[in-house]
Amino acid sequence: MKRPLILAHRGFSEQYPENSPLAFQMTVDRTEADGFESDVHMTRDGVPVIIHDDTVDRTTNGTGFVRDHTYQELLELDIGVWKSPAFAGQHIWTLDQLLDFCRETDRLLNLELKNDFFFYEGLEQRVIDAVTSRQMQEQVFVSSFNHLSMQRFKTLCPEIRTGLLYDKPLLHMDRYLDGSNADCIHPRYRLLQNLPELTDLFHERGMEIHTWTVNEEADMRDMIARGADGIITNRPDRLCRVAEGLCC
Ligand code: G3P
Ligand code: MG
Repeated sequence: MKRPLILAHRGFSEQYPENSPLAFQMTVDRTEADGFESDVHMTRDGVPVIIHDDTVDRTTNGTGFVRDHTYQELLELDIGVWKSPAFAGQHIWTLDQLLDFCRETDRLLNLELKNDFFFYEGLEQRVIDAVTSRQMQEQVFVSSFNHLSMQRFKTLCPEIRTGLLYDKPLLHMDRYLDGSNADCIHPRYRLLQNLPELTDLFHERGMEIHTWTVNEEADMRDMIARGADGIITNRPDRLCRVAEGLCC
């Protein structure tokens, strides 16, 4: 069976604070994962930053929307202690810092633009500038639940691959895709299990399938058997072991 790309979801997030420098470093130190999935928002002063939620409440010792903070204000927050006191002292990364880390460690990055609730005017162009100024167009691919944003992104920068995040069954998926210029599809893994015909539909259209968030061994085996091109997991250690046993 074909080995899928193994992407650590928010870094090695099962064991380390999600989207923290430590979670990315431990992915590299402790696993053979090909890269990361990570999330980007934008601060009040226009800095793309690596965090999952619209607010800082769950994963930092602060409160409020990311977009209401300046970058300097966010930098003062601790992003590790919520997971465990042992992880105190972790601080938010900018997109620039994460890209530099991926370049230094030679890892892929699936960057999820978190712009489906707040649209973050200009985020697409900021991401494009950050990626192209480093010549990382081959190493980075983007995704979003905001499919209008992905369409705009592809029009602005055809060289960077785009992906449609997809988590609910849709009517006439084939016709929906006719209106899209995306390179990849990023379905929740349960959709591929409940609607098995989707895998062929996507592949026949030349779309790579990167599925999420696959944490149990049986589901990992199943997604590999169905021919997923990439698997996003909180447990990159486990997925590497499963893939090693199954794939050539
Ligand atoms: O990109 C896959 C997955 O991360 C999408 O959902 O909420 O975990 O960012 P979420
Ligand atoms: Mg994500």
